[in-house]
Amino acid sequence: MPRPLQGAKHRASNAIKLLGQPRGRRRWRSVAGQVPAWDDRNSLIASLVPRGSAILDVGCGAQTLRTHLDAQSRYVPCDCVPSAPGVIKIDLNRDVWPKVDGAFDYVVMSGVLEYLKAPGAALRRVHDFAPAVVTSYQDLRSEISKVTRRMHHGWVNHLSLPEILSVFEEAGWLVEAQVGWRDSYVFVLRSVNDTRPAGQSVG
Ligand SMILES: C[S@@+](CC[C@H](N)C(=O)[O-])C[C@H]1O[C@@H](n2cnc3c(N)ncnc32)[C@H](O)[C@@H]1O
Repeated sequence: MPRPLQGAKHRASNAIKLLGQPRGRRRWRSVAGQVPAWDDRNSLIASLVPRGSAILDVGCGAQTLRTHLDAQSRYVPCDCVPSAPGVIKIDLNRDVWPKVDGAFDYVVMSGVLEYLKAPGAALRRVHDFAPAVVTSYQDLRSEISKVTRRMHHGWVNHLSLPEILSVFEEAGWLVEAQVGWRDSYVFVLRSVNDTRPAGQSVG
């Protein structure tokens, strides 16, 4: 039977380990294990992607996007905090991307851009994986007080709508669709280099 002091030591040591992790990682560990409050955004994203697509979900969280896709889709999840054994570990803020076989039709980056120190650089890397991206962004509306709230969420960039649209353009992406979701947007972006006929899947 464990002695009470051992239990207390164990709990204290776990608490110290948790405190040692960056705040964001602690939060993502809990996000990774449950259906998120924003899951209707994943449902919206699935409705924007043609059936049978190959999808690389970058910053997949609890992977609930997968539950909204049709059975013919190919789904590959990756995140800095893997929620399950099949999730590939990445860290976009350290330029660590998945080593994956095969081409994808779409990279999904949902609820992720706000956490990136260099969203434009990350979006430039996405061309290596797919000719289209579905992403979201909550733009900075006018009040400065919103920056405090954004920082509280752990967001590290604070761009207005024209600014994030410029980031897309400079990174080589054309906006194919822009859909309002709560007080943010979901964007479908198409690579300026994409020469495939519209709707043609990598199969
Ligand atoms: C708001 S959650 C969105 C999760 C999922 N895409 C969804 O919409 O349900 C943000 C996700 O981005 C991941 N993330 C944050 N920073 C990251 C980084 N530097 N590299 C890779 N993933 C990151 C987190 O682990 C978390 O799963």
